[in-house]
Amino acid sequence: MVRFAVILALTTFAQAQNLTYNHPVPDPLTLADGQPVKDAATWTTKRRPELMALFEDKVYGKTPSGHTDIRVMPPLVDLKALKGKAVRKQVTIYFSDRNDGPLMQVLLYLPPGNTKVPVFVGLNFNGNQTVNADPGILMNEVWSTDELDPKKRLHLQADERTRGTNAAAWQVEKILAHGYGLASIYYYDIEPDFVGGLPMSARMLFPEPEKWSALGVWAWGLSRALDHLLTDSRIDPKRIGLIGHSRLGKAALWAAAQDTRFSLVISNESGKGGASLLKRGFGETIDHLNGAFPHWFNPAYKEFTGHPEKLPVDGNELLALIAPRPLYVASAAEDLGSDPKGEFLSAVNAGRVYGLLGRKGLGITQMPMVDQPVMHDIGYHVRSGKHDVTEFDWDQYLTFADMHWREKR
Ligand code: GCU
Repeated sequence: MVRFAVILALTTFAQAQNLTYNHPVPDPLTLADGQPVKDAATWTTKRRPELMALFEDKVYGKTPSGHTDIRVMPPLVDLKALKGKAVRKQVTIYFSDRNDGPLMQVLLYLPPGNTKVPVFVGLNFNGNQTVNADPGILMNEVWSTDELDPKKRLHLQADERTRGTNAAAWQVEKILAHGYGLASIYYYDIEPDFVGGLPMSARMLFPEPEKWSALGVWAWGLSRALDHLLTDSRIDPKRIGLIGHSRLGKAALWAAAQDTRFSLVISNESGKGGASLLKRGFGETIDHLNGAFPHWFNPAYKEFTGHPEKLPVDGNELLALIAPRPLYVASAAEDLGSDPKGEFLSAVNAGRVYGLLGRKGLGITQMPMVDQPVMHDIGYHVRSGKHDVTEFDWDQYLTFADMHWREKR
């Protein structure tokens, strides 16, 4: 882990641009039997299912079919939240018939009015109360992260002082002013993110939970949130976009690959194990992913520690599974662990599948300048600065959503 950090610290963004591939990148348009995919029907009926099965078997585990005894509680509604600029709805969703079992709280903001609106949905890192300083947000129970022994970790009511601490990454007021809604869920509700978190996970409600993964169940939770959002008459079911940052970007991409009801997808610096190319041999390694976060991926993924060349899939194919839906991939220049160029090349490569399906991928093959977004059916930018979600990022996502959602009204 130390070696990984030192190598990255010694490598500049400019050097990372010149790196050539370490290992060949797998081709989304070649079938397992070696035949090329030449038409949309072959992609849809043969190649896409092949790739889905590979990601299930080798990376995230197979999502169990069937839902648990999900119970949705009556929502807590405030029609005049944020000084009248928002309708706030909060709903607790129990994943089983047990009140002490796993549950998630969905925080939803909508612009006031009666019209149907598009909505972004995404998991948050530190509790719903961090998404905005709004005093009406119910406090999540959060897990303390200062205790290394998982058995000693505490599940506590969040601290009042954490209200709004991640507001810059969520831009609630800006999204609402744009006419869009936002739903957010604390990802630890679905599975706490530490080794030893499995007993508290929604995975426990299914047989063989250890064969699945934390990323898999976070993706599952996003689909359960979507089930609920689709029951809200204010939300346009055809315009529900999914956003995720970093590990939650990995979860968002896998959720959208499996659940095509998500009609637009944003990967904000999802990095390796997400949008980026592991085979490029720059940035975070599969060894680091498996060593530091063994619970994120399924047991089969561990077989590729030290052998990324043997992994039959890569980020370009995960992105290809989103096609033909609008997809935005964003990097940050100083986020070398995610390997911005690896994310860019992955998006370029996935664009070939968009082309086959009659869409326009990125439309460029040279990495754009920092802070210069490119948008077609795939969008991309590399923002100056660090690993984060910023107002600049949201400005691009809203423009991209306008491009795709406004034309469908
Ligand atoms: C770590 C991890 C990344 C991940 C990131 C995050 O840095 O190595 O793979 O994307 O955490 O989720 O912030």
